[in-house]
Amino acid sequence: MELKNKIIEAFASKFGGDGTLYASAGRINLIGEHTDYNGGFVFPGAIDKMIMAEIRPNNTDKVNIHSIDLDDNSTFGFNETDAPQQQWARYVFGVCREIIKRGGKVEGFDAVFAGNVPLGAGLSSSAALESCFAFALNDLFNNNSIDKFELAKIGQSTEHNYCGVNCGIMDQFASVFGKKDCLIRLDCRSLEYEYFPFNIDGYSLVLVDSVVKHELVDSPYNKRRQSCENVAKRLGIDTLRDADMDMLEEIKSDISTEDYMRAKFVIEEKERVLDVCEALNRGDIETVGRLMYETHRGLSKDYEVSCEELDYLNDIAKECGVTGSRIMGGGFGGCTINLVPDTIHDKFLKTVTEKFSARYGHSPKIYDVVISDGARRIS
Ligand code: GLA
Repeated sequence: MELKNKIIEAFASKFGGDGTLYASAGRINLIGEHTDYNGGFVFPGAIDKMIMAEIRPNNTDKVNIHSIDLDDNSTFGFNETDAPQQQWARYVFGVCREIIKRGGKVEGFDAVFAGNVPLGAGLSSSAALESCFAFALNDLFNNNSIDKFELAKIGQSTEHNYCGVNCGIMDQFASVFGKKDCLIRLDCRSLEYEYFPFNIDGYSLVLVDSVVKHELVDSPYNKRRQSCENVAKRLGIDTLRDADMDMLEEIKSDISTEDYMRAKFVIEEKERVLDVCEALNRGDIETVGRLMYETHRGLSKDYEVSCEELDYLNDIAKECGVTGSRIMGGGFGGCTINLVPDTIHDKFLKTVTEKFSARYGHSPKIYDVVISDGARRIS
């Protein structure tokens, strides 16, 4: 059943009547990985995989919420001690708390939600959930007085304070600011951003999900961030945004090899984002693709957030003549993003499915993605 109908039906049967419908999207990132929390550049866009929610104020001081996909319910209040047990409900609780902490208003509501953003694939289903509710609660209780930058930060703070992930701003920003057919070059230090039309004739974006699940909570993600902060501190700067390779070489003997490799990747990656944007502007798709492969190499060898399955997917893409391919998102599993010429699209899908299944005993999941709008009210 279509997502919208499924939600309307579940809301009516759980709570009776109807509420207001909101949606937000998962994201891709063409290039610029692990640069956001280093004050660097990223180049994401929202996609046509979304989380949708129906919500209605209930004139109480409690939230009653139902997840259709998990077939689970949660009820919670708005005090810090009311935090629900279920991880999925903490995302919504965290958004409520972060709005309240900023002086915004949240009253009790009933809600039902569902989505089609694949979980654990690196497409930021959690940011989609956060931004869907941040947008909705701003509309329902705050007369849209909270600006979009703050909505993204509310999602990010939810991850930090209620979910144990010290993430950057990229996912929530893309999910809130996403615009159809556009990627967003975001400067994560100033939060200046620019939309780049992205609809390259003769190419499409294909995600290949290794179906190896990553869990960023308690994962080495926070450790990577720590390494970057160590190096920035040693250099006497706020973030690696202000570092270059000469500066890094100078302190090489004072820092661990591990911290050196992490910082090297970040310094190179923030330049690659700018190079990709320039290449796109002049229609140089080959350069875009080459830089994507360089990012993969860096994420695999220097940042060490790849795994055997993702490296194999990258090798297959190269063999098939895919223009650009790399791990996308935090890493530790999830998917690769591939810039695929239409002429080899079908052959690539067939080959990658056959080869991956032969080696790992399960097929990868494949998603053709279209760049779409982010958080919005539907009705
Ligand atoms: C995760 C985080 C983002 C970003 C990416 C890596 O998706 O949530 O903030 O750091 O990893 O680029």
